[in-house]
Amino acid sequence: MKKIEQQTIASYAYLWNKEIKQERHIHKTHFEVVQSMLDSPIVQKGIGMEIGCGPGRDMEFMARAYSENKFIAVDFNFSILEVAKKLRPLKNVFFVRASALALPFKNGKVDFVYSFGVLHHTVDPAKGISEIDRILKDKGTATLYLYENHEDNRIKFYSLKAVTLLRRLTIQLPPRVLYSFCAVLSPFIYLLFSVPAGLLGKLGKAKGLADKIPFNFGKHPFDLVGDLFDRFGTPIEVRYGREELDGTMRREKFSNVILKKIPDTAGWVVYAAKNSK
Ligand SMILES: C[S@@+](CC[C@H](N)C(=O)[O-])C[C@H]1O[C@@H](n2cnc3c(N)ncnc32)[C@H](O)[C@@H]1O
Repeated sequence: MKKIEQQTIASYAYLWNKEIKQERHIHKTHFEVVQSMLDSPIVQKGIGMEIGCGPGRDMEFMARAYSENKFIAVDFNFSILEVAKKLRPLKNVFFVRASALALPFKNGKVDFVYSFGVLHHTVDPAKGISEIDRILKDKGTATLYLYENHEDNRIKFYSLKAVTLLRRLTIQLPPRVLYSFCAVLSPFIYLLFSVPAGLLGKLGKAKGLADKIPFNFGKHPFDLVGDLFDRFGTPIEVRYGREELDGTMRREKFSNVILKKIPDTAGWVVYAAKNSK
């Protein structure tokens, strides 16, 4: 395993260790947000796989809501063992510690794949997409969330450039130090970005502007600690423009590729079906 992948594991292990213990109340899971944007169901009949399940919130939701399905939850972080322990009562989920870039499964075994915010943190996202294609049955579906590069939003594009520069420094910090830094920063970012965006969002016509403001999704002064840690602590961050991502999916024989932007975060929801013909 590459050093940068070990750093990714260390960074998320710290975050998940906190989040698994904290039981943070969340208004909606990522799964629910993504599903609400799509006309087709993410969960198909049969076996589903979540790649990069992190603290397991989406997996828990899916396993409870679709109790007749069987699920495989994959993450390369050893914190998946804690998640497995916590979700042991759910008998329709199997947890596997493995890399998204080398899934230990045979070809064509899975009916649908869901992966939120994972492949862009890997050393080779295209290889991850090719692995999803490999393990899916023909006509199986993939629902992914991947960061966008904000090529069509000047405010976010230039904010991103500044953050990318700062990240060079912050990814060197020990996770504990970075987490404390994010906890101090969160209320300021909330006041500077989330509160004005929230107010603008209520003004009907200014909703478009509110959507362009970074961190517009904060609802509480300390809501942003985990997101800031994710932004400043993960060593790898790959970002996609619409055409590039569409092309990457099609190269892996996915058809009917649907790309939609999640309104209040920074990325693409991709929904596609495998078509091996
Ligand atoms: C941003 S978190 C997303 C977690 C979860 N999907 C969620 O939405 O809460 C990224 C997750 O991907 C995992 N991850 C990163 N690179 C990976 C890889 N190569 N193979 C498997 N998991 C990976 C990390 O350990 C982390 O749990």
